[in-house]
Amino acid sequence: MTGKVYIVGAGPGDPELLTVKALKVIEMADVILYDRLVGKSIEDMLKRMGKEIIYVGKNSYENGAERQRNINELMVKLAREGKIVVRLKGGDPFVFGRGGEEVEYLIRNNIPFEVIPGLSSVIAVPTSAKIPLTHKGLSSTIFVITGRNLEDIGKSALNGTIVVLMGKEKIKEICRRLIELGKDPKTPVAVIENGTLDNQRVYYGNLETIGDIVEKNVKGVALIVIGDVVELGKKFNSRKL
Ligand SMILES: C[S@@+](CC[C@H](N)C(=O)[O-])C[C@H]1O[C@@H](n2cnc3c(N)ncnc32)[C@H](O)[C@@H]1O
Repeated sequence: MTGKVYIVGAGPGDPELLTVKALKVIEMADVILYDRLVGKSIEDMLKRMGKEIIYVGKNSYENGAERQRNINELMVKLAREGKIVVRLKGGDPFVFGRGGEEVEYLIRNNIPFEVIPGLSSVIAVPTSAKIPLTHKGLSSTIFVITGRNLEDIGKSALNGTIVVLMGKEKIKEICRRLIELGKDPKTPVAVIENGTLDNQRVYYGNLETIGDIVEKNVKGVALIVIGDVVELGKKFNSRKL
């Protein structure tokens, strides 16, 4: 019988910032594949728990693509042996973490999986350094980029994923303004209502259509994600393994 792979965010390194859910799946895991960013403190904790752990972080002899291929193959091999595999990644697995690529590989190989969010360094690290990312009168935008890809730093504000908090009531205006700024009207949009709770619902549309969908349906607290990654999320969600 095939096992299952949990793609789990470990948070920024402090074991106390692991989520309860992450800890729960770590406890039931047969084997844990972890990266360098997971950090020494969590690694020590896993050892104290007597877990079978395999370091899959960077080795000097491997290139990035080769390393990722080896991790993908190892996850599938272990799951096919019937094991519960935790793939533990620093921060959140879907924030500059190649978690999406791993999910795509699991889907291609028909391996059951779950994704467990982690506290991203994007949020946790500035807060632990007592730097508020938003502050009334100082900043109402958080712009997260990767230092690996600076060719288009100006355009990335418009090309990257945009997350809007507190935007439900003004969604039509937000979409209109983004189209005026040059975004493709067909850009995919997801509105996630009651995120992570039992009554979570995700509504899909694009910059032209989502306003009406939200006005008709969304009553609870909601967060808006705008960008091509929404299509990827839709694909991940449609696979029930
Ligand atoms: C490949 S990215 C992975 C990000 C991760 N998935 C997340 O959500 O935090 C690695 C980068 O995250 C940042 N980072 C992660 N953990 C950190 C920490 N504890 N302190 C400072 N920066 C950290 C650093 O900029 C590091 O180069």
